[in-house]
Amino acid sequence: MPETKQEDLKPAEAKTIATLERLRAEARAGGGAKRVEAQHGKGKLTARERIDLLLDEGSFEEMGMLKVGRGGALGDEGEYPGDGVVTGHGTVDGREVFVFSQDFTVIGGSLGEAHSQKICAVMDMAVRSGAPIVGLNDSGGARIQEGVDSLAAYGEIFHRNVRASGVVPQISCVMGPCAGGAVYSPAMTDFTFMVSSNSFMFVTGPDVVKTVTHQDIGFDELGGARVHASKSGVAHFVAENDILCLRDVRKLINYLPSNNRQSAPVLDLRDPDDRADPALDHLVPLTPTQTYDMGIVIHSILDGGEFLEVHADFARNIICGLGRLGGKTIGLVANQSAVLAGALDCDASAKAARFVRFCDDFNIPLVCLVDVPGFMPGPEQEHGGIIRHGAKLLYAFSEATVPRVTVIVRKAYGGAYVVMNSKHIGGDVVYAWPTAEIAVMGPKGAAEIVYRKEIAAAPDPEKVLQDKLEEYRSMFVNPFVAARRGYIDDVIFPRDTRRRLIRAFQVLEEKKTDLPARKHGNIPL
Ligand code: HXC
Repeated sequence: MPETKQEDLKPAEAKTIATLERLRAEARAGGGAKRVEAQHGKGKLTARERIDLLLDEGSFEEMGMLKVGRGGALGDEGEYPGDGVVTGHGTVDGREVFVFSQDFTVIGGSLGEAHSQKICAVMDMAVRSGAPIVGLNDSGGARIQEGVDSLAAYGEIFHRNVRASGVVPQISCVMGPCAGGAVYSPAMTDFTFMVSSNSFMFVTGPDVVKTVTHQDIGFDELGGARVHASKSGVAHFVAENDILCLRDVRKLINYLPSNNRQSAPVLDLRDPDDRADPALDHLVPLTPTQTYDMGIVIHSILDGGEFLEVHADFARNIICGLGRLGGKTIGLVANQSAVLAGALDCDASAKAARFVRFCDDFNIPLVCLVDVPGFMPGPEQEHGGIIRHGAKLLYAFSEATVPRVTVIVRKAYGGAYVVMNSKHIGGDVVYAWPTAEIAVMGPKGAAEIVYRKEIAAAPDPEKVLQDKLEEYRSMFVNPFVAARRGYIDDVIFPRDTRRRLIRAFQVLEEKKTDLPARKHGNIPL
């Protein structure tokens, strides 16, 4: 078709197009060259540069570009380009994704009525069309000039976060300030990324902390990326800068289905299903108290050894993450023997429970690798609510209807055995390595309780204890008692773990589960 020339247009059309181009140029310019320069000076990209990196080249379709606010209570005109947020959709490796990107160069990316309406519009459309939503947060928070309207505006977003939860994947990137109630939108999404060089999240900032508690604390120490990735567990992923962060978001999206009605995309990494790894036969140390790195098992069994660990620096005694088996995405939960001997504590239980629920929401089958000596003992854990938190993991596994396969690598003691996706709570297939020890408790604790009187009365108590330990081990601490009872399906060679898992998931592909008729259960929060 021949290109329309300016002189072919009627005057009215020409005027409309000129106005449109002026408005578009204003929106694209954001807060102007000076503020863009300041943004770059802080090592941050602009809202549009971020979108360009997140989405496939040229795929971005902007929505609501010309929308502006209706003016603020403090005499503010409210005519800000794009009202401080860029919204729309585009593709990530060919699959549709919705995005909003706050523009800090426009009144600090602060959130007012129109800004929120733009975000809500893409959230609604993401849910309607069944595509993930990614929020790129860089904002001074509630727009002060819009007063209570900006609080209402946050509420509209929070409500949509909840409505979208479990329907489409929601991902937040915190790439600048995120303070006050604003933190609750990222907190309700499925995954939160933080950029270590430039972001912080807190409910109340250092000044308020100083006034209320007389504590001196800096932004990073209070709510920087490292703190949230390792101590609070608010951040699932940390990247050094905007570019790496957006690359990681693309990586995560590639593991996920677009919505809760679909399966995750299949990716053939050309790793044979029957690839055996003889090294696994020698991984578990002979001494029961000696630890090892469960990461070795994970990388050995997954397609191409590729694993995207979630919450890598938080509650490191449990490992959660996404990988592929036979090309299909699986969620993996594993006790990390090398950290706290893999015991379950409050943080580990809550971390894994949320991950299990995410996988179940989005039809991602679960693999559970078990080496757990039990729940962490001590007043700190008891008073911190290990009963409440441990129950979350028990509940999460129990209610999950996706295919669930467990491999007991070594210890599976007590309540932790049951919690870690045992058959008794709906695990579909449970395998054990020959090194598995499935028992009510460890040999020492058990012998000391059951044979206490006998040991105390013996002329050589230490010798009797050792004999009793040996007796208990041979009778109870092995996979065969559980196998005879039908609690495990097979004792497998470690080298064959990958093949057996892939086979089990093939069988479970069409798994159907009836759910009780109810509004929703009441997970112990
Ligand atoms: C209106 C804001 C703003 C806000 C920043 N600006 N935050 N305008 N409402 N909330 C404007 C500034 O006036 C400035 O405008 C521009 O954005 C850039 O801000 P600077 O302060 O120059 O940037 P910087 O030095 O990088 O500091 C960033 C900042 C700081 C740390 C975020 O701006 C700040 O502390 N802002 C207020 C944060 C806050 O208390 N927000 C409310 C949180 S409570 P000019 O024109 O000078 O360039 C909240 C409640 C949510 O959000 C409740 C939900 C239920």
